[in-house]
Amino acid sequence: MSMKFAALNFLLLLLHLLLRYADGRGDEQLENVLRLHSMDHDRRIEDDGGVEARVDSLSHMDHMDQSVMVFFTLKDLKAGNSMPIYFRKKDPSTSPRFLPRDEADAIAFSLAELPTLLRFFSFSQGSPQAKAMEATLRECEIPAIKGEVKFCATSIESMLDFTSSILGSNSDFKILATEHHTKSSIVFQNYTILKAPDEIPAPRMVACHTMPYPYAVLYCHSQETQNRVFKVSLGGENGDRVTAVAVCHMDTSQWKRDHVSFRVLGMEPGTPGICHFFPADNFVLVPDSNL
Ligand SMILES: *[C@@H]1O[C@H](CO)[C@@H](O)[C@H](O)[C@H]1NC(C)=O
Repeated sequence: MSMKFAALNFLLLLLHLLLRYADGRGDEQLENVLRLHSMDHDRRIEDDGGVEARVDSLSHMDHMDQSVMVFFTLKDLKAGNSMPIYFRKKDPSTSPRFLPRDEADAIAFSLAELPTLLRFFSFSQGSPQAKAMEATLRECEIPAIKGEVKFCATSIESMLDFTSSILGSNSDFKILATEHHTKSSIVFQNYTILKAPDEIPAPRMVACHTMPYPYAVLYCHSQETQNRVFKVSLGGENGDRVTAVAVCHMDTSQWKRDHVSFRVLGMEPGTPGICHFFPADNFVLVPDSNL
């Protein structure tokens, strides 16, 4: 299977399922995601999941690396502003495939079953794959913080069910993801905000990212507190063009003092308007208000 085909395969499946959920919707967003994933071929070392999860879990991290350079404040979000940003890039052809729901549901998904699962997937204990599975299961089983709902979806269907439970089963939703319009291997550089960012109405939102696992697992979560969602046109110093999805958290009062964003920005819990960019393999679902 060619790289391009593998990437498209994943997204066509998503497209198909979303269309089945909401007939006849205009799906420019999905086309954008398709385009993005077919372009984004830079091979990167698989890391430990998305920034969005790490927003919650990285507080244990002792050192700061480039990959945490995704935070900024709402007041930085102005045309003409420049900031250093890290955009994780992953080759989608190395992403695990989605299982149909019935197949996924037939496999246990719990830390307690890890030894059985390792035998099932033929991974030896202590292998990198075993460690990744353990980390993913552990992350998925951590209870949500106050005011948050989280869910690890092992199929696209269960991701959509979770999304419907949050956004409302009667509403259509649209999918937003960061798009790289140029192909380059640079992951960390200064970007300039090219024009006034577009705010996407998002009374509620669900954010999802892929987790390392033998088949596709999406960690999805949603906060009750107010968030603002933006699409931001960025120009890199090297000429890269990115339309980045950013979320600003308007209530950070429940966040821990050592939350990585506070350390990066030098802020305190409760500071409103703590924002971060999403890497291209994460996505945000919001109600589609244009219908
Ligand atoms: C961004 O620009 C500043 C100021 O010119 C510079 O000091 C910094 O090294 C640049 N950062 C990156 C990641 O290129």
